Amino acid sequence: MKALVTGGAGFIGGHLVERLLATGHEVMCLDDLSTGRPESLAHLSDTPGFDLVEGTILDADLVDSLAARSDTIFHLAAVVGVELILRRSLKGLRTNLHGTETVLECAHRHGNRALIASTSEVYGRSSDDALSEEQDRVMGSPLTRRWSYAEAKALDETMAHLYWSDRSVRTVIARFFNIAGPRQSSRYGMVIPKFVAQALRNEPLTIYGDGKQTRSFCHVSDALDGITALIGHPEAYGGVFNIGRPEEVSIQRLAERVIALTGSSSIVRHLSYEQAYGDGYEDIPRRVPDITRVRDLVGFDPSRDLDDIIDSVIREQTDTDLSGGVLGSVLPVVPGGLENAHVD
Ligand SMILES: NC(=O)c1ccc[n+]([C@@H]2O[C@H](COP(=O)([O-])OP(=O)(O)OC[C@H]3O[C@@H](n4cnc5c(N)ncnc54)[C@H](O)[C@@H]3O)[C@@H](O)[C@H]2O)c1
Repeated sequence: MKALVTGGAGFIGGHLVERLLATGHEVMCLDDLSTGRPESLAHLSDTPGFDLVEGTILDADLVDSLAARSDTIFHLAAVVGVELILRRSLKGLRTNLHGTETVLECAHRHGNRALIASTSEVYGRSSDDALSEEQDRVMGSPLTRRWSYAEAKALDETMAHLYWSDRSVRTVIARFFNIAGPRQSSRYGMVIPKFVAQALRNEPLTIYGDGKQTRSFCHVSDALDGITALIGHPEAYGGVFNIGRPEEVSIQRLAERVIALTGSSSIVRHLSYEQAYGDGYEDIPRRVPDITRVRDLVGFDPSRDLDDIIDSVIREQTDTDLSGGVLGSVLPVVPGGLENAHVD
């Protein structure tokens, strides 16, 4: 494979770049480093077949020149997560819409396969037992900023599907459900790295709302098994697939597991959504994936459970902190901030 990974300096992208190189593929990584961390790729800089290009997916000429040199595009670059979207709504919308259109157009021009990263956010308020890919979406007003991330990703999906059906581009859409693991930044509201960092410092773990809201976390390594298998499977083209692990956990229980596994003396404290976000914020009560489709097609079987995921983050943060790293970069919890949105 000659792969182009957009967003390759990000959390999932960095792991993907590492995996592809380790399995003998050539990898070009395109990232504007807005949230990505080039230092997470530093150990790969001398690996034959690896190239890191700093630039934006909104630069059509640049994307075109990289697509011309590759056969497969993993399109992961995006303004990610509700917290950033609330702060940088227009930038997020433009990046997540036009960037994807640019990638798909270049894939069409150069005959690339393209995996497009989508999100469980597209299900909106739906909170059924297990969300399946054909499920109706239940969305709030398009004028509410909170939904603009989901709207952009949903339109990306529509575009990807049309490039497949009308222009024969081999697209695969991956709807990620709360992917977690080492090297995920806590800065933009991702709950596991934030809780772990707080617990390691024996600070209170702050839960917004009553803590009964549930999520399903999937280890990044399992997620990579899913997407790398899908992009190589002809029957996946034109399809959309949930990528997640159906084990459901409440945020309260998650905080308790983090405290137990770190051996921390932290307590859990609760803030109302109003205290945390001001008026008008809406959280999603639960989000559990149905992964029947991807399991049936490529045998997807995410094996790492919640404790494995938390352990892997603890190990990373303890190691990194010894060498002067990630704990210091965790933003403090500020009432009125949005660090704990638990969304992506
Ligand atoms: N992590 C999750 O749980 C999760 C859940 C659902 C969907 N996703 C999707 O998966 C993809 C990867 O997410 P992640 O968690 O690794 O996020 P991330 O923020 O760690 O990575 C995104 C990367 O894209 C880069 N980027 C942003 N704008 C860019 C631009 N204009 N040009 C080039 N690069 C740009 C950033 O610098 C960053 O490195 C995203 O598309 C996201 O929407 C992730």
